[in-house]
Amino acid sequence: MMNTNDVAGELQGRHIVLGLSGGAACFKAAEFCRLLAKAGATVQVVMTEAACQFITPVAMQSLSGRAVYVSQWDARPGNNMAHINLSREADAVVVAPASADFIAQLAQGRAGELLPLLCLARPVERVPLLLAPAMNREMWAHPATQRNLRQAMLDGAQVLGVAYGDQACGETGDGRMLEAGELLEELVAFLAPKPLLGERVVVTAGPTFEAIDPVRGITNLSSGKMGFAIARAAREAGAEVTLVAGPVHLPTPRGVRRIDVDSARNMHAVAVDKALAASIFIATAAVADWRPAQAAEHKIKKDGSGEVPQLAFVENPDILAEVAHSPRAQSGELYCVGFAAESENLEANAQAKRARKGVPLLVANIGPATFGRDDNALLLVDDEGVTELPRASKRALARQLVAEIARRVSGAET
Ligand code: C5P
Repeated sequence: MMNTNDVAGELQGRHIVLGLSGGAACFKAAEFCRLLAKAGATVQVVMTEAACQFITPVAMQSLSGRAVYVSQWDARPGNNMAHINLSREADAVVVAPASADFIAQLAQGRAGELLPLLCLARPVERVPLLLAPAMNREMWAHPATQRNLRQAMLDGAQVLGVAYGDQACGETGDGRMLEAGELLEELVAFLAPKPLLGERVVVTAGPTFEAIDPVRGITNLSSGKMGFAIARAAREAGAEVTLVAGPVHLPTPRGVRRIDVDSARNMHAVAVDKALAASIFIATAAVADWRPAQAAEHKIKKDGSGEVPQLAFVENPDILAEVAHSPRAQSGELYCVGFAAESENLEANAQAKRARKGVPLLVANIGPATFGRDDNALLLVDDEGVTELPRASKRALARQLVAEIARRVSGAET
């Protein structure tokens, strides 16, 4: 899940209709509403009568800063057509929680209350409808619910999925509503442009860990933040993304397939295999150049003699160079992007590394100035020359970089 402290501007200028139907998950809708506002969206809350049993319209009004709509007979709109006005203003309608009954109403095209009515009245091509189901696990698994969900999807709704876990009823299973941060991440991704639709992207990220013995090893200061942000941005851009992650403590971006690895050899085995079936490979990982020639089977003991262990090293395989020299990469079917963490002479070092690795695009940054931080500055070096992406959050830079990659990939395809 995304860092919910860091959502400012994600939905700037967007107007969201947030619908609540009845369910214990209404309390999460309150947090979601707060996050939407924090992300810069204006939020119009619409609640069903059942939702009002779980949380008050007053609470939702104070969080959204707008009077809540419940009834289709609300006399406030001059034309008395709340369902038309509300649905036409929205960039998206998000129903969270979407109860089993609400989904059944949608599937049948029923319009007995304002919320299903405005969903039915919305211009389907222009105003997307996202559903965050929430219900007991048996209700979720029931064929009628699954049938209704399929029908709602066929009719154009986007279903955000459910989580597994403890439920308000005391049971455990599928059917929990996603958390507020997850809902926001899904909505932001849904609304993002899709220049990488149909692409398969593999990203390596983080450090590697080279074992000395069962309890010690050599690693580096890479946090994985840049690579994770790129994986997220690529998914938002419509790609199917696999993230090969070294040992880091970062949450997996939603919709991204993550494979955890530890050593460089481990990362090599997974990343090469996945990259050779992909269309874009982005190597952000700080892979250890060398590993101890032999990892001791047992912990190396200090015996009091003052003798220190002697470590010999061997070179690790170069994942990026190997992928970039594969026939698929050489023929242009697979677009490779390398990273270079330098401490000086950014441009000259980047040019040299680009040639050495044999990649069309090399992205350089100052290593010590970026490791572990939330911001960065990038220098893109390719055939066109040098493009500077000035200091910004890694999230913003990842989006810009993905747009730059998409432009180059689509340029190569046309
Ligand atoms: O040679 P250097 O480590 O500076 O190259 C950095 C680039 O190569 C990064 O994109 C990094 O992910 C990749 N790399 C790799 N396998 C290695 C070493 C580096 O994929 N063994």
